[in-house]
Amino acid sequence: MTRFTVEPGCTLRGLLRVPGDKSISHRAIMLGALAEGRTEISGFLEGEDCLATLNALRAMGVDISGPEHGRVRIDGVGLQGLRAPVEPLYMGNAGTAMRLLAGILAGQSFDTVLTGDASLNRRPMRRIIEPLARMGARIEATPSGTAPLYIQGGQILTGIDYAMPMASAQVKSCLLLAGLYAHGRTCLVEPASSRDHTERMLASFDYAVHRDGPRVCLSGGGRLRAGEIQVPADISSAAFFLVGASIARNSELLLEQVGINPTRTGVISILRLMGADITLLNERLAGGELVADIRVRSAALHGIRIPEELVPLAIDEFPAVFIAAAGAEGETLLTGAEELRVKESDRIQVMADGLQTLGIEARPTHDGIWIRGGTLSGGEVDSHGDHRIAMAFAMASLRASDTLYIRDCANVNTSFPGFVERAHSVGLAIRQDL
Ligand code: S3P
Repeated sequence: MTRFTVEPGCTLRGLLRVPGDKSISHRAIMLGALAEGRTEISGFLEGEDCLATLNALRAMGVDISGPEHGRVRIDGVGLQGLRAPVEPLYMGNAGTAMRLLAGILAGQSFDTVLTGDASLNRRPMRRIIEPLARMGARIEATPSGTAPLYIQGGQILTGIDYAMPMASAQVKSCLLLAGLYAHGRTCLVEPASSRDHTERMLASFDYAVHRDGPRVCLSGGGRLRAGEIQVPADISSAAFFLVGASIARNSELLLEQVGINPTRTGVISILRLMGADITLLNERLAGGELVADIRVRSAALHGIRIPEELVPLAIDEFPAVFIAAAGAEGETLLTGAEELRVKESDRIQVMADGLQTLGIEARPTHDGIWIRGGTLSGGEVDSHGDHRIAMAFAMASLRASDTLYIRDCANVNTSFPGFVERAHSVGLAIRQDL
């Protein structure tokens, strides 16, 4: 079992380019496959999650070359060009791959099965199955509403008007992708904004998407026109270093070409509210997405009550934010974040357990956590196979008094291949044992 060992009290300095954005990489493969013509992607995340999407589309007859140094070339087959795979499609740990592909597969003429690893096959799928069924899809899951998903092809889909019960970009994107195959309009209303990469990328493939406040609509039966996609560095991966350099002493990092889509920058807002010294430099548009270089310097952080409206905009960054809270002066309170309980692990419980092991007062609640900043001891924590928990605790070492051991870290490769090497290159004394 892969374990990280991290020595305490390091300083982080230098220049860093973290890997490509996971959400955008998944969508680039899917839309590129369904487009007409050739799509060239650069900056693609060669992590296991996105490779699961790539392999699934290959298994359905799409000609994809690469990835090679982040470059992928896809010869799109058009919306009606996918072919039946011979085996169940294995999505590994990737919730985005499973939920978004389910939307596409609901509109095909052939049957498919989607399955994943133990963690993914425990995650809730009724949130997509129910609205897809209202559109006319036929999908069977386990009695507890989890994968494997058996998707019956040959159904006629009809657009729906759907008020989403939770702010989820995966649910929204799944239904928009199914909407490409539906008769009429598919309209979704979000209770709060979630990441909008699907809408932006559809528009960049010349597919009309209409937004009116919280409501987003598209009509089925159009075409996607292939093009070029530049994937920015993933702010969710950069977040570990934003926290690390903030809580470490004498530190300064420059993170290059990070995506700063406003639906993803909640972590910057939260850290700034805590007193972080973060500056965005050289802001520009690249392929429909805003990017910037981000400078972060050590700062004395203080605890805050995290504004609930920032929760969906920082949904993947809470493991890192909790480490910032543990290293901050005073109390931090998070509410309105019950979605964290159904991520790759129960991120509220697993983070609370790990923080307590390191001597920090942390109390989980049904929809969040209360943390009092303090002195972190060394010790051994369990990431429960959750990539973001493993990387968050690696940063906790920067304020720990002794060596930190983190168990079950292999899944860091799902979103951040090369994490250990890159963290090491800017000063973290981290090593990986198998
Ligand atoms: C994602 C949406 C979020 C996020 C996940 C990626 C996406 O999930 O946690 O890592 O790419 O659409 P939810 O839609 O479940 O909030």
